[in-house]
Amino acid sequence: MDEKQVIVTGVRPTGDLHIANYLGAVMPLVKTLEANKEAEVFVFVADLHGLTDNDAQTISDYRLPVVKDYLALGLDKYLNSGKVHLFIQSQIGELISYLALFLSRYTTFNDLMRVPTLKEKLRVNQEAGQANALLGYYPVLMAADILIHNATIVPVGHDQLPHLEKTREFAEKFNNEFGKVFSLPQPHTTENLRILSLKGQGKMSKSHPEGALFMSDPEKTILQKIARAETAKEGEATPNLDSLLTIAAELGIGTEEFRKEHMAGKQVVGQFKKVLGETLVKFISNFQNKRSGISDREVLDVIMKGGAAARLSAEKTMERVKRAVRIDYLNN
Ligand code: TRP
Repeated sequence: MDEKQVIVTGVRPTGDLHIANYLGAVMPLVKTLEANKEAEVFVFVADLHGLTDNDAQTISDYRLPVVKDYLALGLDKYLNSGKVHLFIQSQIGELISYLALFLSRYTTFNDLMRVPTLKEKLRVNQEAGQANALLGYYPVLMAADILIHNATIVPVGHDQLPHLEKTREFAEKFNNEFGKVFSLPQPHTTENLRILSLKGQGKMSKSHPEGALFMSDPEKTILQKIARAETAKEGEATPNLDSLLTIAAELGIGTEEFRKEHMAGKQVVGQFKKVLGETLVKFISNFQNKRSGISDREVLDVIMKGGAAARLSAEKTMERVKRAVRIDYLNN
């Protein structure tokens, strides 16, 4: 396959990053970049998507800090290649919106309401009396993010797969009507890490801060949270203990011995927590040090460059789209 690889992915700027975001999304993205050195890569902060169900102030608060997080977590290394572009979605907002308009011809209101990832969000927001039409439009906007760079690979979590299916459907229908304009993007899902709240309320999430390990937590808080984390009695396995073991393994701690001894009834959880706590402190404080060395000015430079590259790429696609749809009548 000698098709040029284009990787596109987005992250919503809706809260503080925690360790599960890092292990589940950022680390796999860095691995994908490492494995695809020749690819053109667009990584963006999906601020317009954030606005579907968050207020403008929240999005404004997190928009640039997320870029800094991603740089400090290892994306900085790839920027010099000239092939990896970090930008903010709204920098090319009008181009994405314009493409979304053409894609909208290939779906119906009813179909949009049936996209599984969205159904739950729509329900929750409707109950709160605030499901707006932009939320229903989420899949179209997301398809436009992806197709506007002619993406071939889209790294996403499992929950996003229905959106990718929708994206491929849009691309196929457009291509069928107008000839091959878009590549069909392949999702690259990461192995589903089950990282739970340290306090046993489902997945680790920013909405239960006491059970989440934030990348901004100070040393003392990290150690406290690990010390208080739910585990299991000797000889017993629980999802909470498994989750801690998963975090440990992802951070490079050998966990087999602990697991064996624990299952054999030995009292090793304390010792395990100590190793895990120390490793987390080291990892998170390294991140924090690196992050504090990145200036706001640098972040702006990165997104000015990234945004310009994204714009070039998006404009190129939009020229092809307009030609295909025959609305380039003034340029003939
Ligand atoms: N919907 C994604 C999420 O919630 C974010 C996103 C927006 C995205 N546009 C995208 C991801 C395009 C990949 C490609 O995580």
